[in-house]
Amino acid sequence: MEQLNFRRNRRLRNSSALRSMVRETVVRKEEFIYPIFVVEGENVKEEIASMPGVYHFSLDLLAAEVDEVVSLGIPSIILFGLPNAKDAEGSEAFSDEGIVQKATRFVKERHPGLVVIADTCLCQYTDHGHCGVLHDGKVLNDPSLELLARTAVSQAKAGADIIAPSNMMDGFVAAIRQGLDAAGFEDIPIMSYAVKYASAYYGPFRDAANSSPQSGDRKTYQMDPANRMEAIREAESDVAEGADFLIVKPALSYLDIMRDVKDNFTLPVVAYNVSGEYAMVKAAAQNGWINEKDVVLETLTSMKRAGADIIMTYHAKDAARWLEEK
Ligand code: PBG
Ligand code: ZN
Repeated sequence: MEQLNFRRNRRLRNSSALRSMVRETVVRKEEFIYPIFVVEGENVKEEIASMPGVYHFSLDLLAAEVDEVVSLGIPSIILFGLPNAKDAEGSEAFSDEGIVQKATRFVKERHPGLVVIADTCLCQYTDHGHCGVLHDGKVLNDPSLELLARTAVSQAKAGADIIAPSNMMDGFVAAIRQGLDAAGFEDIPIMSYAVKYASAYYGPFRDAANSSPQSGDRKTYQMDPANRMEAIREAESDVAEGADFLIVKPALSYLDIMRDVKDNFTLPVVAYNVSGEYAMVKAAAQNGWINEKDVVLETLTSMKRAGADIIMTYHAKDAARWLEEK
């Protein structure tokens, strides 16, 4: 054969050892955040139908779950609460006896070293299911800020290590930062859901959290999935207001956005691998249509490759085990 001039890229794929030496992206369990749903009552451990392997826990059954998370070497959890009672303001969200506040105290007492993140929003707690104050069919921005700041302060008082506001009102980081500082919590970081799209991938979460809006939708506060520049504006304002981490949510259909956020800012980027993404993988795996372990690890790798520093994922416990086996 005549001398051809081409590059032999396959050389670096010749053995497992070589492939591992040139691997550019590594997923580590030290970067995982595991979401947990807590409910009032006793003796509740109920699987969420659309999220196999994910449960509602009452506090008396929460110990085993958090013990498992800690023993797997996962450093952090994020708590979502389902209150017994809802009202127009979502007052259970900022009650010192609210479900997330109680769960936070319980977990921090049992595992002081586990990083407990509190999701700061009103939608699970309002009777109308919106993330802010509803008036004449509109979600009001500024009146919502005060309630969100109160929620964050009460979560910090309960011992939360990080406040993660997911409400998408304008100015929520500034309002929460001011509230935390005024209450003496200058050292509590804000992990902002900075770039959060109005996504159909939240469906299973809304079933699990009983948090669907009773009227309308979230499109006046969450972002249009078609927009890319808007993500930069959203991240910019949160950085200016004092955010410490930037969440991009959902993750899988938004890897381009994750890369944009990583390249344009210096704060740690968090990928939120949301409920619908989890549900799709679980459903296909249960049908035997995909290899769950390989698909999950490939998916998490893609988020890291796109720029995520941290991954919030319902797969965290399984993935931590699989990474250990490898
Ligand atoms: C509510 C909230 C949502 C999620 C976390 N906090 C969804 C929503 O806006 O309805 C989604 C999480 C998931 O789908 O896993 N502020
Ligand atoms: Zn909300």
